[in-house]
Amino acid sequence: MTPGFPTVRPRRLRSTPALRRLVASTRLSGADLVLPVFVKESLSEPTPIGSMPGVVQHTLDSLRAAASDAVEAGVGGLVLFGVPAVKDAGGSAADADDGIVNRALTALRADLGDATVLIADLCLCEYTDHGHCGIVADGAVLNDETLERYAAVAVAQARAGAHVVAPSGMMDGQVGAIRTALDAAGFAGLPVLAYSAKYASCFYGPFREAAEGAPQFGDRGGYQQDPARPVDEALREVALDLAEGADAVMVKPALAYLDVISAVRAAVDVPVAAYQVSGEYAMVEAAAANGWLDRRRAVLETLLSIRRAGADIVLTYWAAEAAEWLRA
Ligand code: PBG
Repeated sequence: MTPGFPTVRPRRLRSTPALRRLVASTRLSGADLVLPVFVKESLSEPTPIGSMPGVVQHTLDSLRAAASDAVEAGVGGLVLFGVPAVKDAGGSAADADDGIVNRALTALRADLGDATVLIADLCLCEYTDHGHCGIVADGAVLNDETLERYAAVAVAQARAGAHVVAPSGMMDGQVGAIRTALDAAGFAGLPVLAYSAKYASCFYGPFREAAEGAPQFGDRGGYQQDPARPVDEALREVALDLAEGADAVMVKPALAYLDVISAVRAAVDVPVAAYQVSGEYAMVEAAAANGWLDRRRAVLETLLSIRRAGADIVLTYWAAEAAEWLRA
């Protein structure tokens, strides 16, 4: 009890589970969760990703089954990453109509129609032989040359059946270039979910195994944000993306950037997404496998904290499983 305030007892609202549920305020629902999936060309069976226990590189067939299951479980959407059999300097498999991710989009759109939201991650790092997110010359990633590639990829993904494209390469002007190309190709109604505030993070480590997209030289510090910069820089990136026509914005990673999520939420009136990335997944899975954390509680607590910080949408590798739990 606070001295001098005999009637103030915060515990009153915690006395029963029903009362706590009534006042909870932050709710988790499968509808807010998006499942990231990997589909690899020329695989004969799904291949486990060592650093992400429970996550696989899918074949087209196993992807179709997993996507239907996730939708059945109640997830709000899926985000697709393709891993081509052959990579080249320009990432040509990203916008080839018969490229793996575009074939997967077409197959899932045929299977699922508009029953879910198919989001295409729009980047080149999974498709380039050097592993960078854009066109490289003399060891540097060229901004404007890369924008032309992103524009072509956006149109290919839209044609293939994506409901939303999500540029994640952190090139300046990428949203504007993509918006212009989509409009010109007859996709004026197709939304862009911009990875606006994306940091150069160690927590992408396991993803690079999953998507086979580790940079072959250097790192992504020349285009992704520096974690040491003030939150204002994230707000500036968000404002630029909105000015260029972004329909929704994303912060990435999530758990180490809750302050950024909360600042972005306060600054904008569009949907805010947050990506609980591969390293966040791996940390909890590893601790749970050792018996050091209660896995289910840890998963739900992290998701809750991301929603409480202000994210409307959470991209998470636990989306299907958590949606299943939350439905019960
Ligand atoms: C592509 C991309 C990355 C992730 C999502 N899109 C990798 C990167 O930027 O290096 C990471 C997702 C994760 O770690 O789960 N640019």
